Amino acid sequence: MGYIEMREIPFGRPMLGEEEKKAVMEVLNGPILVHGPKAKEFESAFAGYVRAPNAVTVSSCTAALHLSYFYLDIGEGDEVIVPAQTHTAAAHAVELCGARPVFVDAEKDTGNIDIEQIEPAISDRTKAISIVHYLGMPVYMDKVLNIAKKHNLFVVEDCALAIGTYFKKVHAGLFGDTGCFSFYPVKHMTTAEGGMLITRHKEVAEKICRQKAFGVDRHVGERKIPGVYDVNMLGFNYRLNEIQAALGIEQVKRMNGFLKKRKENYEILSRGLGAIDGIRQFKSTHGDYQSSYYCLSILLNEQLTSKRFEIIQSLKQKGVGTSVYYPQAVPHFTYYKNKYKYDDNSFPVASWISRSSIALPVGPHLDVEDMEYIAESVKDALMEVK
Ligand SMILES: Cc1ncc(COP(=O)(O)O)c(C=O)c1O
Repeated sequence: MGYIEMREIPFGRPMLGEEEKKAVMEVLNGPILVHGPKAKEFESAFAGYVRAPNAVTVSSCTAALHLSYFYLDIGEGDEVIVPAQTHTAAAHAVELCGARPVFVDAEKDTGNIDIEQIEPAISDRTKAISIVHYLGMPVYMDKVLNIAKKHNLFVVEDCALAIGTYFKKVHAGLFGDTGCFSFYPVKHMTTAEGGMLITRHKEVAEKICRQKAFGVDRHVGERKIPGVYDVNMLGFNYRLNEIQAALGIEQVKRMNGFLKKRKENYEILSRGLGAIDGIRQFKSTHGDYQSSYYCLSILLNEQLTSKRFEIIQSLKQKGVGTSVYYPQAVPHFTYYKNKYKYDDNSFPVASWISRSSIALPVGPHLDVEDMEYIAESVKDALMEVK
């Protein structure tokens, strides 16, 4: 790279400034750490941002997914359609309820679930379809909803990487019955750990609000006489605390800026990588599809795929942090493979993505020069291994 100075480019970095620190200190200086006004304020702010009629804070996206199936009361003998190319949380949430995830392969252009393969995977045991907006590119939800309607299925949208994802100008999470978001540190915004469940249905929000807090029939603020409450359903402790909520409120205020920066970075990096032989990119924003630009995953050709770890290592030495979304098709992870006996040749597209992709950073912690540096580093890394 010679003439370019070495840079340190982490894959993700939480964007926490003075406002977040002040907000956290305010909570710490007060008497309320849980069950307070901040969680309610965060729910309103997030709901306003994505235009959701109902939002419920939860402790993680995994908790939101689990609650979605728990609400549905699925269990042994039930099945849920789950994309093969995603985070293991999508399948675990189904397993935790005792039901079976039935995996469906990905499509090549976006990495999203191959909608054509959903219907053949539906049986009379299927209760729900899980949709993941992979790397922030929206799934064609009209088609999914038609299938769901025809077979009377609940739709759970995993929006862990999809704040700022719109399909036909409607935010991800508002098509299905629930939308589940993650505020883990490398995500579009963070509360350290944390999540949000949005839903178009008031009754779903109300019940999940109870189920996330032990199934108690009235929250602390609703109890006129302390100690007087009943438990009329099962529930977890999946609450988000006031410190996390305070962070979330400040982060929502900055979301437009974060998303603008991601888009700019993505476009610059995409152009920079465009001229490099041996790699291709997923489809990004076009027409009705608005991506949240979580990262830019490159797909290596067959020859380079065999050198992927050397390339990742070389990028690391150049200071470029990378990730892999996701390291294996979920059904090929040992737990699922042992339990359901999937063979290595199943889910060929999801496997190909897991084998050949490298995720590059485009987060708001980076600028134009970083993008130019990443493109240059990729070019050099590929030359080195050829
Ligand atoms: C698609 C997807 N779903 C769910 C999760 C889990 O999110 P959380 O860590 O908030 O539980 C992740 C985490 O990266 C993810 O990528």
